[in-house]
Amino acid sequence: MTLARLAAGAGHHVVLSNSRGPETLVEPVRELGPLASAATSEEAAAAGDIVVVTVPVSAFPHVPAAPLAGKTVIDTCNYGPERDGRIPELDGTSLTSSELLLRYVPDALLVKAFNNIFFKHLLSLARPAGASDRSCLPIAGDWAPAKAAVTEFVESIGYGVVDAGTLADSWRQATGTPVWGAPYGPYSNEKGRPAGEDAIRTALAAATR
Ligand SMILES: NC(=O)c1ccc[n+]([C@@H]2O[C@H](COP(=O)([O-])OP(=O)(O)OC[C@H]3O[C@@H](n4cnc5c(N)ncnc54)[C@H](OP(=O)(O)O)[C@@H]3O)[C@@H](O)[C@H]2O)c1
Repeated sequence: MTLARLAAGAGHHVVLSNSRGPETLVEPVRELGPLASAATSEEAAAAGDIVVVTVPVSAFPHVPAAPLAGKTVIDTCNYGPERDGRIPELDGTSLTSSELLLRYVPDALLVKAFNNIFFKHLLSLARPAGASDRSCLPIAGDWAPAKAAVTEFVESIGYGVVDAGTLADSWRQATGTPVWGAPYGPYSNEKGRPAGEDAIRTALAAATR
């Protein structure tokens, strides 16, 4: 919802979906204003130039693959065994959660983004281009045109971008890594703390596994 709010605020059309159906999204659509609508997951996936998948990792098998073929798809998701249950492939170091999602949507042009920032910080740290305290977000993906499209989108909603490599490299921004949450300050401070390019690059470089 926070991403939808920022996107609509930047002039993008937004189509929301969830697991329960568009009739349950009347209030968020009203709140977002005239650029927003609601649809089924299949319809929302078909509608977007850029589609955001932001669900529990345990719901990956339900993400509709066909309408995402050939599309730029942002994966914001984090694996958390306490919520998702144990997923053996993700308990080792052989696979990132984005690579797991790609198994379910094999023809999508997946880009990992937004997974490392608390939603309240995402809202409060957005700044216009050129602001001295504009924050950066890492993105990772295997397709340069999709990364370019996501970069343009991220920049339009108030952030700079740091290229964090491929989907296989995206472990560097996964749950618990130095770039995950901490650069933007503690959750207890809803305003967050701006984190620019250097801070994000340093945190990515400090990741270990
Ligand atoms: N919260 C954060 O600050 C934050 C920050 C960065 C990344 N993330 C990651 O982003 C993802 C979403 O987080 P969240 O906090 O937004 O979770 P959330 O509040 O639990 O929302 C999950 C959304 O996914 C929908 N969903 C679940 N299963 C679905 C399915 N089979 N088909 C369609 N939609 C489905 C839910 O719809 P229903 O409500 O209808 O079930 C709900 O709208 C997670 O992987 C999380 O780790 C969260």
